[in-house]
Amino acid sequence: MEDNLRFDQSGYKMKRFEAGGQSVQFRAYEGIRYCLNPRNPIQRLNLYVPETLCQGGAVNGYTLKTAPIFVPNTVGGYMPGPVDEPGVNLRTGEPNTIFQALFHGYVVAAPGLRGRTSRMESQEFFVGAKVDVDIEDVKESGENSGRMVGRAPAVIVDMKAVIRYLRHNKEQIPGDVEKIITNGTSAGGALSALAGATGNSPDYEPYLEEIGAAKERDDIFAASCYCPIHNLENADAAYEWLFSGENRYQRMKLIRDGEEIRPFLEQGYLTEEEQTYSKALKKQFPSYVNGLDLKDDRGNFLLLDDSGEGSFKEWVKEHVRKAAQKELETHDSCGRLEKLAVAGSRIEEQNYLTVRDGKVADVDFDAFVKKITRMKKAPAFDAVDLDSPECEEFGTEEIYARHFTKFAYENSQVNGAFAEEKLIQMMNPVPYIGKADTAKYWRIRHGAFDRDTSLAIPVILATILKNKGYEVDFALPWGLPHSGDYDLEELFCWIDEVCKC
Ligand code: DHB
Repeated sequence: MEDNLRFDQSGYKMKRFEAGGQSVQFRAYEGIRYCLNPRNPIQRLNLYVPETLCQGGAVNGYTLKTAPIFVPNTVGGYMPGPVDEPGVNLRTGEPNTIFQALFHGYVVAAPGLRGRTSRMESQEFFVGAKVDVDIEDVKESGENSGRMVGRAPAVIVDMKAVIRYLRHNKEQIPGDVEKIITNGTSAGGALSALAGATGNSPDYEPYLEEIGAAKERDDIFAASCYCPIHNLENADAAYEWLFSGENRYQRMKLIRDGEEIRPFLEQGYLTEEEQTYSKALKKQFPSYVNGLDLKDDRGNFLLLDDSGEGSFKEWVKEHVRKAAQKELETHDSCGRLEKLAVAGSRIEEQNYLTVRDGKVADVDFDAFVKKITRMKKAPAFDAVDLDSPECEEFGTEEIYARHFTKFAYENSQVNGAFAEEKLIQMMNPVPYIGKADTAKYWRIRHGAFDRDTSLAIPVILATILKNKGYEVDFALPWGLPHSGDYDLEELFCWIDEVCKC
């Protein structure tokens, strides 16, 4: 039988890219179909290979057989994530992540993945993506044009199909398919965590079959996650545990003004009703945390009392203290990462830190929370009017958006429907840790000044992973807001360590 998911080793263009005084020649395999029945043209893969490896040479000790396969995604806001290519970061003008990864000697697999706005005949693929794709084969596979085909769990299903495609071609694909490392930021970080946690879970099988994914394993070696917006069904309670009592919210939004897109500061106060939601959600958090059996490094349980105080709070605070300590020692965010750090985040300006003899001795945690400020109204994710990216992510082909927490469902102002429990679980890495074939190595970074989700959320992820025996490198880089890929040198160092040990 003909194998339509076979990788064509000769199907590349030779390219060279130069930026920031660096230059790399590579083979570009672009627009690869990674599943047999794509629902949207975005479901394509770009694969890049340093030419030195193809010529039998080595880069950083890696050869064509041993190079890790780095899998970055461009997913943000649970929107579709188009394929990407080596280039410069438009914001900073510096070589982008793919370029740097190639320069470092990795094989890079950059997939396009469906998201909440993907439609059967969507044109969005063509915005910002430069791969010529014939839309006809997608049309053939779907009768109802315009159907929403990117809602949960499409994004993780596509990622798994990509991983399976790589494994399916393990003899032909450059790089080591047992060293697949995913990377992403925010919703893309959540996706990376999902790929890391849910390896080979049968839950996704019917969806993988539907798009014609290869029948292969889909576990990965390591996951790199920047500020993962995950654990959505507990994120509202976690947010209010941190921010309840802070009634002012503020966030920068990009708004379209005619042809122009410009930043706009959205701010205001929680209404009486939102303050009531906030208090009720905060109350839910201790029972969630207490049911997780989390332990600190010495084996002590991490718990919260009914008012939200206790050893778990001390544990989160300790991560903030460590972050400040590291900043004090290295002046990282106010030096190398200064451009990215939040204004006013220099250690000397933080009057809630007690610094003695060059050591951060204590953090007034409540004052720290006041300093970083609330960004979202309550509930932060599952909106009672269904107007949030996450509610849309849980929509279906027929229903625009759905609730995914009991709280918002019961308080729905629009009589919203509730997503299936199983589906909600399938979008959360946490319940799969140790139950599916979970990646052995994890690197999680979440800016200490990030308010897109509660700091409790990444702390819980890292702690569960550690408690279950996985290798976790976790930190809250000081002063950083919601962002990613800001420390690629260190990320690559970590990858090299875990790959060579
Ligand atoms: C992202 C940010 C959010 O605040 C959110 O709720 C969902 C996704 C993001 O940047 O991907």
